[in-house]
Amino acid sequence: MSLSILEISYLVASLTFIVGLKMLSHPDSARKGNLIAAAGMLIAIVATLTLFQDFDEDKMLNYSLIFGGLIIGTLIGTVMAKKVQMTAMPQMVSFFNGMGGACAALIAIIEYQHHQHTTVTGFDGELMVMLLGLLIGSVSFSGSMIAYGKLEGKIKDKVLPMNQAINMVLLGAIVVLIIYQLFGESTPLQFYILLGLALVYGILFVMPIGGADMPVVISLLNSFTGMAAAFGGFLYDNKAMLTGGILVGSAGTILTILMCNAMNRSLTNVLLGAFGGAAGGPSKSQSGDQTVREISLSDTAVLLSYSQNVVIVPGYGLAVAQAQHTCHELEKLLEEKGVEVNYAIHPVAGRMPGHMNVLLAEADVPYEKLQEMEEINPKLANADVVVVIGANDVVNPAAKNDPSSPIYGMPILEVDQAKNIIILKRGMSAGYAGIENELFFYPKTRMLFGDAKDSLQKLTQEVKEV
Ligand code: TAP
Repeated sequence: MSLSILEISYLVASLTFIVGLKMLSHPDSARKGNLIAAAGMLIAIVATLTLFQDFDEDKMLNYSLIFGGLIIGTLIGTVMAKKVQMTAMPQMVSFFNGMGGACAALIAIIEYQHHQHTTVTGFDGELMVMLLGLLIGSVSFSGSMIAYGKLEGKIKDKVLPMNQAINMVLLGAIVVLIIYQLFGESTPLQFYILLGLALVYGILFVMPIGGADMPVVISLLNSFTGMAAAFGGFLYDNKAMLTGGILVGSAGTILTILMCNAMNRSLTNVLLGAFGGAAGGPSKSQSGDQTVREISLSDTAVLLSYSQNVVIVPGYGLAVAQAQHTCHELEKLLEEKGVEVNYAIHPVAGRMPGHMNVLLAEADVPYEKLQEMEEINPKLANADVVVVIGANDVVNPAAKNDPSSPIYGMPILEVDQAKNIIILKRGMSAGYAGIENELFFYPKTRMLFGDAKDSLQKLTQEVKEV
């Protein structure tokens, strides 16, 4: 069997996707991995446009439209990627994912028009692939747009009356419509009704989910888009598109499962929104006569400067305050004074996978200083001071001690083992799970209130003067 240049190009492209994906799993190689996969995509596009011979008369390539689209898309994508804030990354991923879903749905719509003129005897597998591509692509598009709107703060979480029941009815109607078209007759009217139902389903499916649960939903929608793209690959017999779609689909699914596991929640629990309160909202009333002990900047500076071993726990608040550079400055200053400083990274700290790694890498914190939860937990008892910066749920001992807590069972950074704990946050507000944190009331805990960046800047000055 001999392979054509086109097939070899697709094989090379598929290999670059796999290698690129593998390289994305480490911050050191991630940029290179991304470039390698992008180069593979370029090879696949150029090969398809120049070597693909199988176009029908009515499918002749319109190069001005294709290159016009490529140029406009590249410009918009580059500007958006350059301008995006690190904290706005989840909504950008969601937006791009929505565009992928829309493309997959459009492929199904265009191909359906061509398919209308063909007569098929027996089971119509091509129609099935089109209908599934249309359904999944449309759900992914409208769902991702709602997720984008929520994360941008433009759309509020809204549970419509009987939302779940309406979703079930919609889903039932969609299944019936697909079966009817596959085993009966498929008319354009039915096809477009299916498109409408899928778009509405995408909206209603994402609408009630708590805004802070969006990273999990985006990852799930991402896997939907991958699947829809793979259906497109089937339709066009395009191996690169098929492999790319399958890789995105499976990576999205694995990521969804990993995120749910790290939070010790089931996907159903995330999708049905049975978790905590609004992120950053006011804390629940403080129980009993628990007292909060504050610490001054100068006392914190002295404590840190005379420690041997300091562990920094970054959390969502560090990202919001954009305090990563100041944090790195403080860490370097302490190291110059002979203090050993490391970072403890919880798998779901922040609001997206690898959030803290990306943030700290941006500030040039050496990777060897970032220690994963399993690695650092046994060492925390030796830490003279743990400095928790804008983290809350990931250090909440209720996850270990309180079976009635919504985060019970979630693995946490066991900072309560350290000799001293200093918490940097603005007030007593709850974190993402909307629950109080008893750690803040422990005798060895001291609170340093204020915006993380502001506090760290002042602390750095104080440390310089010690
Ligand atoms: P959170 O529990 O969300 O706590 C963040 C804390 O930062 C808040 O209590 C807030 O208190 C403080 N904060 C906010 N802005 C601040 C600022 N400018 N300066 C200083 N502090 C500030 O964060 P976490 O510990 O990183 O936990 C992450 C949570 O997100 C987990 O519950 C996790 O399950 C969830 N989650 C994560 C992911 C991924 S993949 N990472 C996905 C979905 C959900 P104040 O308002 O009092 O300052």
